[in-house]
Amino acid sequence: MGLLSSGPLATQLQQQASLVKQQHLAELFEQDPQRFNTMHLRLPALLLDFSKQRMTVEAWQGLYRLCDESALAPWIAKLFQGEAVNTSEKRPALHMALRSFDQPFVVNGQDLQPLVEAQLAKMETLVERIHQRQWRGFSGRAITDVVNLGVGGSDLGPMMACHALEEFRVSQAKSLRIHFASSMDGSQLAELLQRLHPETTLFILASKSFTTIDTLSNADTALRWLGQACQDEALLKRQHFIGCSAAPAKMSQWGISKDHQLEFWDWVGGRYSLWSVIGMSIALVVGMSGFRQFLKGAQWLDQHFARAPWAENAPVRMALVDVWNTNFLASQTHAILPYDGRLKYLPAYLSQLEMESNGKRADRQGQEVDYPTCPILWGEVGTNAQHAFFQLLHQGTHQVNCDFVMPVQRYQHSHWSEQTRERLQYQQRLNLANCLAQSRVLMLGNQALGNQQQVDADRHYPGNQPSTTLLIEALTPYTLGQLIALYEHKVYTSAVLWNINPFDQWGVELGKQIAKETLAAIEGQGSGFDPSTEGLLAAVRAYQETQA
Ligand code: F6P
Repeated sequence: MGLLSSGPLATQLQQQASLVKQQHLAELFEQDPQRFNTMHLRLPALLLDFSKQRMTVEAWQGLYRLCDESALAPWIAKLFQGEAVNTSEKRPALHMALRSFDQPFVVNGQDLQPLVEAQLAKMETLVERIHQRQWRGFSGRAITDVVNLGVGGSDLGPMMACHALEEFRVSQAKSLRIHFASSMDGSQLAELLQRLHPETTLFILASKSFTTIDTLSNADTALRWLGQACQDEALLKRQHFIGCSAAPAKMSQWGISKDHQLEFWDWVGGRYSLWSVIGMSIALVVGMSGFRQFLKGAQWLDQHFARAPWAENAPVRMALVDVWNTNFLASQTHAILPYDGRLKYLPAYLSQLEMESNGKRADRQGQEVDYPTCPILWGEVGTNAQHAFFQLLHQGTHQVNCDFVMPVQRYQHSHWSEQTRERLQYQQRLNLANCLAQSRVLMLGNQALGNQQQVDADRHYPGNQPSTTLLIEALTPYTLGQLIALYEHKVYTSAVLWNINPFDQWGVELGKQIAKETLAAIEGQGSGFDPSTEGLLAAVRAYQETQA
């Protein structure tokens, strides 16, 4: 039994929710035309509008009490003080220290800043060498292509950020191409290897543990591919691989030379590691000063999260919206809708951040929770999604909480001809209009047209679908840093309110273990599986034989 399922506060919040359920969002606005004014938050360069959430002032008050009764303030303090908030693995989660590169971050009397800065400095040296075309492959030719081999947090974050910040590419990186390959089946890598040249390709092995089979098998394939052009394996490992990991001994064992090893630490969770040397590919695109701006934006958000009272605290308010929808309005899905093609990978990135963190059913005391936790998170670039799954949002049977994420200023650059720039700016106005129109129609349904005429059921838009709009003044390394840290701290806050540990991921381990014995069976050794798996194995073997 937890605070969310029993006790006076849960009863009070359930009563608030039953009142809200009887009302349409349109009515909430009629009763309180000031809703936008009272329910939006402004941070430098960011605006969060919660007024389209099915919330009342009383519900917010009850939820602030929930923060107090859940001991959120002490939990935030524990996070920043480096206590073992990852209780199952008995370690702290100190990704905030990575953003504190320019000021002390003291934990148990030790300042982590010099450690962080030393790795950034080493990363800077490698970035410079690549940018200056001084990093040469085995034949002496300069590197033109860099491939990040990683998966999960060692792939999704850097890929999302590199894509988002392409416009901020530094001139030294103009002709450098950055690629990502993660899939265990080798398909992404195989496709790349057909286009790349061994003499001029450098691989970043990005793996916190340096044991992940997906990444290590891609690395071995890359090494063999290079080996077709040069037989000196030691030279290849030296000139064609950089390692980014929290396991330096394993990097050495693999053959990565010490001066090409970038390190981070156990106290950085994999899905929080893009701020560390795992962000090497980001730094290659935006340069070290762009990367530091990215860290700086997140640092601003850290300080905001640590200090702002609940009503002004953006990540806390976002978490309260999640808990309200999930636990009191019985909504189990959350759509992330960036209205900007540059944020194409944001939903995939957030799906790991949120679901790997909070997709849990055991509470911190080891009991099974009796309330729902993390909703299912999914999404797509907003305007593309309008032509795909928005039908379900508008007329389906599910209540879906939506985040509309929209950078406003675009296409200011003078490198466009005036005619093209005007046209692109028009496209951005079209995009902005669609974002605002969609959240409005989701809220009001047919009433958005202003008349209350009856329409046929198949043309009926019920509305009442909740959403939060996050406006970003302009997408830059700094504001992207703010945005990502905003979601990270929201995830932590939700975990505190759900009384779960967001920093472990035991749920991914069993599958890895079982895959090992299944591989043996595919390779001809081992049986005794369940009848379905046995049947599938027999079919796989038969197909393999036909192929042979
Ligand atoms: O299997 C899950 C996971 O451990 C994620 O948490 C992590 O981001 C990913 O695998 C990759 O792990 P690593 O960086 O250790 O290769």
